[in-house]
Amino acid sequence: MQDFLGYEKEKNNFSRYYEHLPHLPHPPHPPHPPHLPHPPHLPQPPHLPHLPQPPHLPHLPQPPHLPDPDYETIKKAIFTAVAGVFEQLPSLTMTKTAVIIDGKAVAEKIQGQLRSQVEALVQKASRPPGLAVLMVGDNPASAAYVRNKERSCGKVGIASYGRHFPKETTQEELMEAIAELNEDDRVDGILVQLPLPNHLDMVAAINHIHPDKDVDGLHPVNLGRLMRGEPGLCSCTPAGVMALLREYGIDPKGKQATIVGRSILVGKPIALMLLAADATVTMAHSRSPDLGAITRNADILVVAVGRPELITGDMVKPGAVVIDVGINRVTDYEGKSRLTGDVNYDSATHVAGFITPVPGGVGPMTVTLLLQNTVESYIRRLGLG
Ligand code: GUN
Repeated sequence: MQDFLGYEKEKNNFSRYYEHLPHLPHPPHPPHPPHLPHPPHLPQPPHLPHLPQPPHLPHLPQPPHLPDPDYETIKKAIFTAVAGVFEQLPSLTMTKTAVIIDGKAVAEKIQGQLRSQVEALVQKASRPPGLAVLMVGDNPASAAYVRNKERSCGKVGIASYGRHFPKETTQEELMEAIAELNEDDRVDGILVQLPLPNHLDMVAAINHIHPDKDVDGLHPVNLGRLMRGEPGLCSCTPAGVMALLREYGIDPKGKQATIVGRSILVGKPIALMLLAADATVTMAHSRSPDLGAITRNADILVVAVGRPELITGDMVKPGAVVIDVGINRVTDYEGKSRLTGDVNYDSATHVAGFITPVPGGVGPMTVTLLLQNTVESYIRRLGLG
């Protein structure tokens, strides 16, 4: 067949081309790899001793067959779980609104002023102010308070004439000590630390203190003066609460003030002080029915009832001033001991406008007002005013 495409011709041309290429030499054989030495024989591992068989465990008794939980138990368990979640909700979903009232800072400020005042007065007088705190027994909380009072006296220049009596002390011995201090010219203030052991009569002891030296403001004459709106020595904790309100620019005039608690140490005197400051005062206590309905009306809520976290956020009026006087030692679910107030701080702080923490709120003010009362008594007794 004719080679129309010149195919055969091209093929021949290629063959010819290859025929003229030089023969390449064979590549050299690669060298054999060197013989590696055999690895040394490792010693056989030692035979491990046979371990003794574990003892046979006694058969445990079968657990008792528990009855199936009833409807009420299941309902209670679900309710508790749901309540736990709801308890956490405010801190997750709401912002904290309350200004924290810093009692420690206010107390330090007033104590600083008292120190300067005492320094100036001592130049004019023959002696410093003097305070006698009497403690009977060994209640550890009372001992801590008394130590704190004496330490604070030292800081502002007040001399301490305190006495610590054993718990077997008789009423006569206590009354004799008070009588001696009433006569002691170096002493401007006398305080009997409460509570007293059960066999002692607290009222008789307080009534035995000279009213002009009653820096606790608990003598009937001083409580009567407060009731009548006359000047006199005022209970330290309520006076401390009033000082905190003043310091934060909170005027009780025209406000609805509610007090929970009716003790002569706090509840009753603070009610009189707030009344004297033109608040509209309501008194409630642990037996008041529907406490929340009462406390929710309060612009100023003072709680001094001695029940840990009795007042919760839902019982507080939005924007209210919450003053927590309670100091309770509680043990939490992990067995840890801590101090807490009569108000549930975590929930109330989301609702209140102002709130005192525990500790660090009212507590530091009580001792400060005790120092202030002592200086006031000193000024009056020595005619330094
Ligand atoms: N115990 C706890 N607080 C007080 C207080 O303010 N005065 C007295 N006398 N005893 C207390």
